Amino acid sequence: MNESLNEYPHRHPDDHPHEHQILNPATEEVIATVPAATPGDVAAAVARATEAQRGWAALAPADRARLLRRFAAVVDGRIEELAALEVREAGHPIGNARWEAGNVRDLLDYAAGGAERLSGAQIPVAGGLNVTFHEPLGVVAVIAPWNFPMPIAAWGTAPALAAGNAVVLKPAETTPLTALRLAELALEAGLPEGLLQVLPGAGPVAGAALVEHPGVAKVVFTGSTAVGKQIMATCAAGVKRVTLELGGKSPNIVFADADIERAAASAPGSFLDNTGQDCCARSRILVQASVYDRFMELLAPAVTSFAVGDPADPATAMGPLISAAQRERVRSYVPEDAPAAIRGDAPQGKGFWYPATVLEATGPGDRAAVEEIFGPVAVVLPFEDEADAVRLANATDYGLSGSIWTRDVGRAVRVSRAVAAGNLSVNSHSSVRYATPFGGYKQSGLGRELGPDALAAFTETKNVFISTEEQ
Ligand code: NAI
Ligand code: MG
Repeated sequence: MNESLNEYPHRHPDDHPHEHQILNPATEEVIATVPAATPGDVAAAVARATEAQRGWAALAPADRARLLRRFAAVVDGRIEELAALEVREAGHPIGNARWEAGNVRDLLDYAAGGAERLSGAQIPVAGGLNVTFHEPLGVVAVIAPWNFPMPIAAWGTAPALAAGNAVVLKPAETTPLTALRLAELALEAGLPEGLLQVLPGAGPVAGAALVEHPGVAKVVFTGSTAVGKQIMATCAAGVKRVTLELGGKSPNIVFADADIERAAASAPGSFLDNTGQDCCARSRILVQASVYDRFMELLAPAVTSFAVGDPADPATAMGPLISAAQRERVRSYVPEDAPAAIRGDAPQGKGFWYPATVLEATGPGDRAAVEEIFGPVAVVLPFEDEADAVRLANATDYGLSGSIWTRDVGRAVRVSRAVAAGNLSVNSHSSVRYATPFGGYKQSGLGRELGPDALAAFTETKNVFISTEEQ
């Protein structure tokens, strides 16, 4: 077990600032100052949410669906505004940011369709009629990270609302602006006051208060494994429902029989997209020994030509890291003198820039080969045969995603079944779609989000038996 999975910050509320300065990570300019919620603010928000939820759950399912579709339509009309905000506060390239805002719209539309389809079952039993109901949980807390502030806020929020719950959302300290704007757009769309509240604040203060609050029925958390474990422990005290989406160290497995050109051309995007700050980043590249040299030869130009620069420029593929702290974290895995196999460029001067870096692992136990780096850094390891590839792929406490490159269909299926991870792709690096389930094995998480069953995770199943005996 590595240290970063165990660390957990225990701090007193007074140690945290009462407001957060939001920086543009590409320029280090302060773009906003946002007040940090106190435990008192959290309690007041949960009280308002409890009230709003009663009215919301009492609406006809078709009316909830209509309001959520209206919310989706309002978001659709603000894609450019939301994307521009994401470029400024998170440094995401504008093309990615537009996709992220569109993803919020799609999540709301997809969840809205579920509100009227939350059917229970009629189960044959003797002596009466037996039916099940999927009832809302009440108030759901969504604790979102900074790496995909908009989509991940909506992954929890959209299905929770569609299933009849209220949501209190705590965005990450560094990226509250898009979430705050989404809450305003919800009101503009006609969602009731108090139904979706966004409370920016410090994780160990506002986040912890929300998790502990007895009025919160479920916590949806995306972030570090260390904090996820602490949240799960806190939830245990109240037997609260919890969904955890934690880190990853996902393999990209390239077999000798694959289309090596395509595998090499697509590999950079799989660990450089979002500057590697992606829980699904394919940051361990496992290459069959017989094609290792050829793959590395093709990978080098693909990595160095990945366009790094101004996130507002549509030609940019990779922006800066989110913060100085994250850059220090990433740097700690790549000492100045580390012999990088491939290193790209990065702008000099202001901004939390870090170059694309590919390391050749010194061994499978190498810290950079085992821990989540959450930056534009991948490690390459050779393997001998299929059994060796599966063993290496599974030699991690994580199990979120992975890619398998091969032209052999039988092998693609065998390896997909053998890798202990929630989201695998063959001859592709796709992992997240709003219509398909997403989540981790092992310490990558607990529960599933998205997909056709997303609403069910925000309900209790109630069984009712009605006697048909004559009264
Ligand atoms: P973090 O886990 O501290 O932050 C994620 C969210 O949890 C933020 O909203 C934060 O305010 C909140 N939080 C922090 N402490 C809390 C507490 N005690 N109670 C309730 N909420 C709390 O992650 P951090 O420190 O920003 O990033 C560290 C590393 O975690 C990254 O380098 C990466 O490896 C991993 N990470 C993984 C993510 C994923 O997508 N699975 C997302 C963010 C981080
Ligand atoms: Mg933290």
